[in-house]
Amino acid sequence: MIDFQKVQEELEGSIEAIKDLSQLQQLKAKYLGKNGLITQAIARIREVPPEERKEYGLRVNRLKEFAEELFKKKEEELKALEIEKRLSQEWIDLSVPLETELGSLHPITQTMKRIRDIFVSMGFSVMEGPEIELEEYNFDMLNIPKEHPAREMQDTFYVNKEGYLLRTHTSPVQIRTMLSQKPPIYIMAPGKVYRRDDDPTHSPMFHQVEGLAVDRDISFGHMKYTIETFLKEFFEVDVPVRFRASYFPFTEPSAEVDIGCVICGGSGCRVCKGSGWLEVMGCGMVHPQVLKNCQIDPEEYQGFAFGMGVERLAMLYFGIDNIKLFYENNLRFLKQF
Ligand code: PHE
Repeated sequence: MIDFQKVQEELEGSIEAIKDLSQLQQLKAKYLGKNGLITQAIARIREVPPEERKEYGLRVNRLKEFAEELFKKKEEELKALEIEKRLSQEWIDLSVPLETELGSLHPITQTMKRIRDIFVSMGFSVMEGPEIELEEYNFDMLNIPKEHPAREMQDTFYVNKEGYLLRTHTSPVQIRTMLSQKPPIYIMAPGKVYRRDDDPTHSPMFHQVEGLAVDRDISFGHMKYTIETFLKEFFEVDVPVRFRASYFPFTEPSAEVDIGCVICGGSGCRVCKGSGWLEVMGCGMVHPQVLKNCQIDPEEYQGFAFGMGVERLAMLYFGIDNIKLFYENNLRFLKQF
């Protein structure tokens, strides 16, 4: 016959001394395994005289439950201890230098950031607009009439939804800004634009930066000063700048801005096609009709606007002759920046 009291006390004593999970496993086998003490005691229930059988069964089962509970508790305790031990031993040395090579910003991103920083330093804030734009904002409200050649399919990517297109320039952000803010307005809008164009100096997707200033007594002189200051800061030299009369439906008067060729210094080369000048942006005084379209009184407020191609400026600044290099993700190219 098994001495229940003694077995229970022995078990309590031995479990107290257990230090790890494998020891616990062994002890558990000794009591509750196939040939374990308690398992055997349960098997022997048949040998017990019938009058004692009920009492015996009750006690042996209680002992089994007690043992199982005890093992379960100890196991949880040991597992918690193990985690605590690992936490105190394992640690990460944050001061170990990384082996991996750090990446760098894409030359277009770098150029956008430089352009932005210059205008922000002059007091312009950054605005953004959607790349899928309303035809109305991209064209109509910018005074680009329905028959204007810029509207024809060879220039514009239309989307499936009536009245929407991929914006062909960042100028619709002018409209969005004037509809949502009262003058004084001094904003610049960087972003992607899309045109059906594809050759060594044109890509169907490229980046532009738009500028817009609307305030009282704004003159062409303010625009000229702002653009000249920007170009000299951007190219980090005192580049010659000239304004050439031009036409945009949304500005009047309009101009195109040229800088003295940064490749040949003005003597004429392949990049400036022998002229000594490079066209870098379009600009002009905001057309009174565009102000009216946005509920701004042209008698009270005037404005200037400009728009430039980021790829063009990046190509000139870094001396890159093919726009496709920006989009090929060729590491040998990108690593140079
Ligand atoms: N949106 C014009 C273009 O993409 C550039 C421009 C902007 C011209 C603002 C004048 C004023 O060509």
